[in-house]
Amino acid sequence: MSEFGVYVHVPFCAHRCDYCAFATYADRDHLMDTYVDAVVSEIEWARRDGLSDATSVFFGGGTPSRLSAAQLMRILEAVPRTLDAEVTVECNPEDATIERLVAYKQGGVTRMSFGVQSTQPAVLADLGRRHGIMAHREVSEVVDEAGFATWNMDLIVGSRAETLDDVRATLHDLLSLRHAPPHVSCYALTPEPGTPLGEDLRRHPDEDATADAYDLVGTTLEEHGYAWEEISNWAMPGHECRHNHVYWDHGDYVGFGSAAHSHRAGHRWWNVRTPDRYIAMVQSGKRPLGGDETLDDATQQFERDALALRTRRGVPVEAFDSLDEIAHLVNVRDGVVTLHPASRLVANQVILRLKSGA
Ligand SMILES: C[S@@+](CC[C@H](N)C(=O)[O-])C[C@H]1O[C@@H](n2cnc3c(N)ncnc32)[C@H](O)[C@@H]1O
Ligand code: SF4
Repeated sequence: MSEFGVYVHVPFCAHRCDYCAFATYADRDHLMDTYVDAVVSEIEWARRDGLSDATSVFFGGGTPSRLSAAQLMRILEAVPRTLDAEVTVECNPEDATIERLVAYKQGGVTRMSFGVQSTQPAVLADLGRRHGIMAHREVSEVVDEAGFATWNMDLIVGSRAETLDDVRATLHDLLSLRHAPPHVSCYALTPEPGTPLGEDLRRHPDEDATADAYDLVGTTLEEHGYAWEEISNWAMPGHECRHNHVYWDHGDYVGFGSAAHSHRAGHRWWNVRTPDRYIAMVQSGKRPLGGDETLDDATQQFERDALALRTRRGVPVEAFDSLDEIAHLVNVRDGVVTLHPASRLVANQVILRLKSGA
C-alpha cells in the first residue's frame, strides 16, 4: 500500500518567537473551540469525498500543544488511518507535562517532536524562547515515562549569540541524556522578512559561523550513530520520520486547517491563511481554499529530483548533463549522486544544475 500523509495545522502560540514566520497567532486563543469544530468538519467533508487512510498524521504549527489534549484527540479521532500509522505531535517544551503526553499516547499518538532549539541561555534569549535550559532533560524524561518509543528534538543553529562552544555544549547536553532523542532536526536560522529578527540586520546569522555550527552538528550526530536523512534531519536506524519521507518522496498528502498545504499527483492546493477566515468559510459550508496549481510533468520531475537530492537517497547521474561544475560539491557512487556533507547547506548550487531544472 502506498504512503499517504495527513497534516493538521494548529495556528496558536503562547507568544511569537523572534525568528518565526509560520502562520500562527498569539492573540487568537478564543477561537480554539470553533477552530477544532471547523477542522473536524473539513476532515468529515474529505471523508465523504473518499479520503484514503493515512499512513502518517502530523500535527504541526504553530503549537499543537496549545490546544487541550482532548481537543487535539478529537481531531485525531476524525482522521481515518491505517493500524500502523505514525502520528506525530509538535509540542513546545514548556507544555510537556506527563498528563498531556499520557493523554496523547492513549489517544493514538506514536511520536513526539519538541522545539528545544538550544540548551544555552544566551541563545534561547536571543531567539526569544521562553523555556528553561533544563527543558531538554525534562522532555526526555517525560516522553520516556509516557511510553513513547520514538521522538524528535528540533535545534536551530546560527543565532548571533551562539558560539561554536554553545553548539558543542548543546550537543553534549542532548547526547548525554539518559534517553537521548532518537531523531534530531537541526535548522539553519533563516532571517524571515517581517519578523523582529529578520528586520534587524545585526541579528542576521553569519554564514560562515552557521556553516561551522551545522558541520559540527552533522559530524557529532553521525559519530554517535545517527544517520543523515535530509539537509536538516538525522535519525537513529528505525527512527526515521515516516511523514517526512512522504514529503521528500513527492508523495501524496492532504492538509487540514488554516494555511495547510496539500499535494496529490502533481496537483497542489492550500487553505486560506488566517484562522478567522478559515473558520468563517467552513461555518458557511464553503471549502476554505486559498489557491491551487497543477504542475506540468517537467516541473514534477524537477521537484522530485530536487527533493531527492536533499536526502541521502540522491539522484541518478543521468539527472545531470554534466558533473564538471559541481564535482567538488557531490559524491558519486554506483551511478548515484548525493550531496557532499560540506555542501548540504548550499544544496541549491547543485539543484540549479539538474537537467530537469533547465
Ligand atoms: C513550526 S515550528 C513548531 C514547533 C513548536 N511551536 C516549537 O516552537 O517548539 C517547527 C520548527 O521550525 C523551526 N523554525 C521556525 N522558524 C525558523 C527559522 N526562521 N529559521 C530556522 N528554523 C525555524 C524551529 O526549530 C521550530 O522548532
Ligand atoms: S517557533 Fe514555535 S512557538 Fe515559536 S512562534 Fe513559531 S510556531 Fe510558535
